Amino acid sequence: MAQSPSRPFRSRDWFADPQRSDMTALYLERFMNYGLTPEELRSGRPIIGIAQTGSDLSPCNRIHLELARRVRDGIRDAGGIPMEFPVHPIFENCRRPTAALDRNLAYLGLVEILYGYPIDAVVLTTGCDKTTPAGIMAACTVDIPAIVLSGGPMLDGWHEGELVGSGTVIWRSRRQLAAGQIDEEEFLQRACSSAPSAGHCNTMGTASTMNAVAEALGLSLTGCAAIPAPYRERGQMAYETGRRIVEMAYEDLRPSRILTRESFLNALSVVSCAGGSSNAQVHIMAMARHAQVRLEPDDWTTQAYDLPLLLDMQPAGRFLGERFFRAGGVPALMWELLQAGRLHGDCLTVTGRSMADNLEGREAKDREVIRPFAQPLMDKAGFLVLRGNLFDFGIMKTSVISERFRARYLSRPGQEGVFEARAVVFEGGEDYHARINDPGLGIDEDCILVMRGAGPLGWPGSAEVVNMQPPDALIQRGVSALPTLGDGRQSGTSDSPSILNVSPESAAGGGLRWLQSGDLIRVDLNQGRCDALVSPEEIARRLRELPAPPIPPSHSPWEALYREKTGQLDQGATLDFALEFQRIFQRTPRH
Ligand code: FES
Ligand code: MG
Repeated sequence: MAQSPSRPFRSRDWFADPQRSDMTALYLERFMNYGLTPEELRSGRPIIGIAQTGSDLSPCNRIHLELARRVRDGIRDAGGIPMEFPVHPIFENCRRPTAALDRNLAYLGLVEILYGYPIDAVVLTTGCDKTTPAGIMAACTVDIPAIVLSGGPMLDGWHEGELVGSGTVIWRSRRQLAAGQIDEEEFLQRACSSAPSAGHCNTMGTASTMNAVAEALGLSLTGCAAIPAPYRERGQMAYETGRRIVEMAYEDLRPSRILTRESFLNALSVVSCAGGSSNAQVHIMAMARHAQVRLEPDDWTTQAYDLPLLLDMQPAGRFLGERFFRAGGVPALMWELLQAGRLHGDCLTVTGRSMADNLEGREAKDREVIRPFAQPLMDKAGFLVLRGNLFDFGIMKTSVISERFRARYLSRPGQEGVFEARAVVFEGGEDYHARINDPGLGIDEDCILVMRGAGPLGWPGSAEVVNMQPPDALIQRGVSALPTLGDGRQSGTSDSPSILNVSPESAAGGGLRWLQSGDLIRVDLNQGRCDALVSPEEIARRLRELPAPPIPPSHSPWEALYREKTGQLDQGATLDFALEFQRIFQRTPRH
């Protein structure tokens, strides 16, 4: 390992400033009362932060409370000094009104810690959906040497001989509950069976997707993302990550040297061929913007839509995290892309080597789970960006469009990929639950369920509520999915064919605002269009008569500030003023 850093460590400014020995004494003294010595703090060795996202409030990341011990061992053995500190908790399933509020809050908090304390490099512990982008966004703003250590998915869930995956089992079982095929007790049993151990969601939901994205971006050690949380390899990965971040501190290997347009395009490709979460669109855009990398909303269609589905993992496929790991995990998926000429192999990574170098010898070991590029589960399985008179941006995850849905909506002779449906409009989640089973709405198979008021401003935070299931009566007749559309998001574990993340949202004056139940909506996947068949004159008339969009009050200081400062989902829902702050690590704060 290099023993002289490529520039003096920033922490020396705190602990070894010959001009200010009075201040140095103050900085040093309290670290000594848990075992550090002035000698080691002044030794010139790098101080490595461990950004701890695990807590009782963040059970998906709780494994990091244990893993941090292995990270510390690695840091020590490589000659660094570990300092662990807490990050604002994020727990997707439990945070009301939505965990989307927490991503930007955790980001802000982490930026201040990394900037304001004597830290020379950082291990970002990640797991639950938004913990990954929050950490990476902060590392980009600060531009501090950073490495991602995910906590890994839970073990596979089993219930009566069947695989039950996080989240996905909920969406599937609630349809069976509505159809009268199972009772509440069975529902609960399945849900609990899907969470058999420590770890994050074991499906290719948003957590697995975002950790795969971190690896695809080159920010994790090779093979990190897919290792299940309780496996021995996870602890070994924690140790190796601790060792490597010390070297990165010496090499001054910062996110700005790793993250490029090409590495972000690699991430888009991995999400597409993995059948990953639609939430990746929001978070990848946010990370790219904080990294000052140009990414266009349309890149999802132009760069990666034509990629095939290679990974047979729920919700788009059958298996769960353990099988994915044993099949080779993210490197095996990327290996397929590289062989097919669909990966930028020369991107630099945290290993200090190129992605192509990292992928050598990483061919998949289980071809049932990870398909060869030429024999995929589905052709053209990426994400489609749509626009029209209702919105400038919406995204559709095509890998979860079922055969039945394709046959019903997308396969009319001469009209493939095009359908028209009658809008049934709901004002947020409460309205949907109150009215979905009202026979008076006359919902049938020719309807599209629309949700508005669910975006960053309207909810606030943007909620995972667009995966609306049909009325019970329709489900009982075998219609398990209707098209849906909304200005909120949907769970990454959902298998619902939806048009999501619609921007601008209705609360910000977007077109969903003037839409009325009964309007016909025409979706044309070939042209990337989604339009209400309403004349411009009629739209103008409605707009004249519409009152301002209803925005529920903010109930906390952060909700109010979030609403004031946060942009729309197509642009990553970032705190836009924060984008002005770049590479702030280069400055040291005043004494
Ligand atoms: Fe936390 Fe899925 S709810 S990872
Ligand atoms: Mg989620």
